Amino acid sequence: MDAKIKKRAEELRRLLEYHNYRYYVLDSPEISDAEYDELFDELVKLEKEYPKLQTPDSPTQRVGAPPLDKFPSKRHSIPMLSLNKAMTKEDFLDFDRRMHELIAGEGGKMEYYVEPKYDGLAVELIYENGVLISGSTRGDGITGEEVTANLRTVKTIPLILQAKKPPKLLEARGEVIIFKSDFDKFNKAREKSGEELFANPRNMAAGSLRQLDSRITAQRPLRFIAYGIGRVEGKSFSRQGEAIEFLSSLGFKVSEMQGVFGAVDEVDKFYNKILSRRDSLEYDIDGIVIRVNSFHQQEIAGELSRSPRWAVAWKFPPVQKTTVVENIDVQVGRTGALTPVAHLKPVSVGGVTVSRATLHNEDEVKRKDVRIGDTVIVQRAGDVIPEVVKVITEKRTGKEKEFKMPGRCPVCGSPVARAEGESATRCTSLYCRAQQVERIYHFTSKGGMDIEGLGYKTVEVLVNKEIIKDVADLYLLHKKSDLLIGMERMGEKSVQNLIDSIENSKNRELSGIIFALGIFGVGENMANLLASHFGSMEKLKDASAEELQRIEGVGPIVAKSIYRFFHDRNNISIINRLKEYGVRFPEETTGRRQGIFSGKTFVLTGTLDGYTRAEAKREIENRGGKVSSSVSNKTDFVLAGVDPGSKLDKARKLGVKIIDEDKFKRMIAD
Ligand code: IVH
Repeated sequence: MDAKIKKRAEELRRLLEYHNYRYYVLDSPEISDAEYDELFDELVKLEKEYPKLQTPDSPTQRVGAPPLDKFPSKRHSIPMLSLNKAMTKEDFLDFDRRMHELIAGEGGKMEYYVEPKYDGLAVELIYENGVLISGSTRGDGITGEEVTANLRTVKTIPLILQAKKPPKLLEARGEVIIFKSDFDKFNKAREKSGEELFANPRNMAAGSLRQLDSRITAQRPLRFIAYGIGRVEGKSFSRQGEAIEFLSSLGFKVSEMQGVFGAVDEVDKFYNKILSRRDSLEYDIDGIVIRVNSFHQQEIAGELSRSPRWAVAWKFPPVQKTTVVENIDVQVGRTGALTPVAHLKPVSVGGVTVSRATLHNEDEVKRKDVRIGDTVIVQRAGDVIPEVVKVITEKRTGKEKEFKMPGRCPVCGSPVARAEGESATRCTSLYCRAQQVERIYHFTSKGGMDIEGLGYKTVEVLVNKEIIKDVADLYLLHKKSDLLIGMERMGEKSVQNLIDSIENSKNRELSGIIFALGIFGVGENMANLLASHFGSMEKLKDASAEELQRIEGVGPIVAKSIYRFFHDRNNISIINRLKEYGVRFPEETTGRRQGIFSGKTFVLTGTLDGYTRAEAKREIENRGGKVSSSVSNKTDFVLAGVDPGSKLDKARKLGVKIIDEDKFKRMIAD
């Protein structure tokens, strides 16, 4: 083999690693996927022709290697210590006091280096002259398992460091994690194929890293975030922050949220800031790690056998807690679905008191086998309704009672039924009061009639007092304003605002009205589709189930549900009354609306500053564009806000154009 070929292979390896880094670590690729593939294929071809070129640090090896019998053990040259915990602010202040006593001004002003504590798995990577030669789990801190082949498959782990002159030896330490969105996607796929589900991203990361067959690991969406160093030769640092900067310059992903603080108040502020953002982050964290920044001062503070004195993990309140199911009853929703709800012995989860958790449906109760009296683990994530994760069966006494779905609606007493292939049990009456409250509340929602000033509680009171019975009655409320004034949170001014808002809603566009009706299976997207297909309420009302099903995007279940809705006497009478009371039911031009976005499909991800999702969608659709929920080859633009999800990765992979909010605003302005 001539030297030229060897050199080209080396060059290709470096180039591919560089572009891998731009893509996975920086989220900012410089070349298209096709160009990347071209380079990749060239290297594969070379390696095939000259197998000697196939070195372990070649990006072609990220797909995994033949399985092992077991993992060799690996002693860490410097122990991977664990962290002392601070559960409260007091604990942290104690730590701070101890630090000041120990360090006593030595080495100048003391500062802390602070970053999130990832809920994953600690690993150590060893690089010699810039090439990854070994990777191991933390194990007991002294000895771990060598899982090099598995770690090589992790895209955010550099196989070759990005440096002209890398240090002779570098031990990089950090956490292997899985994004929440990747975890959900993966579990959904497993559910479909009937495989056992992972309990949480951490368990999935651990399970994936301990696969003897690294080809399986290669299929798992693992990521690595570096947070520290072990032994280093050929480079020295005086502070933690410096080491992190160096790691970042070598091509490692490091924390996006970090701070160096001199005062406890600043650390406290950081703690609360990260805590408030916890739910919107792409990965699980369980606190913050606070380290004395100066390595010299760390030495002065010293170490205990298992943990350093110079660091502490200030934990967040846990999001999972154990409690007891005191009762299970059912709630009736807008579509008549009966949802079993567990009434819990109140417990504080992630800082919020939880006394109820959804059990979703009959099958879920069976699958999790939740019984009244059971001790369970409950979980709360973001604004999501708390849910029961699992039963601790070891705590059963035999006195637990199984839950049975009632045969009659607990609100109106009508029989309930469960359609074939559906998980929901529904109340068969359309006039059930529980459904009315939900229906009316839904009717007023932003995507629906957009009526402001009517909270859920108020609707409940109005229905219970029989001031309104259905959505049409809202348009008679102006005659009953005296009944409203004086109700909870209802002053003269707010009643007037409500009446005005109801009046304004009479001009709502067709798609909004269709959505507001709350037809089972008709969400905002579907309502838009129906409005632009039929152009008027009359035509939609008259459509046969077959005609509905012929529309692209309308399946047989939804077609039937729409047809049934418009063939119910009560529903028709409500629609007629809405008309009579002044709702305009505007006609819409059929076919897609024309505009600058005609024929363009958008996908939204992340949070936008100036628009809610619904608003951004409206802006796009009003200009002839379409909004789709997932990225594919047919997507024209991905509009990415803050904390975008995995859709962004997908867009990059497919080479879909990504725009930010500013660009979007400019496009609209044009
Ligand atoms: S620093 C001696 N930083 O926490 C201090 N650890 O209890 C070295 N962890 O198993 C650790 N995120 O896996 C540090 N940003 C972070 C971390 C972090 C998670 C884990 C680490 C270790 C455990 C220590």
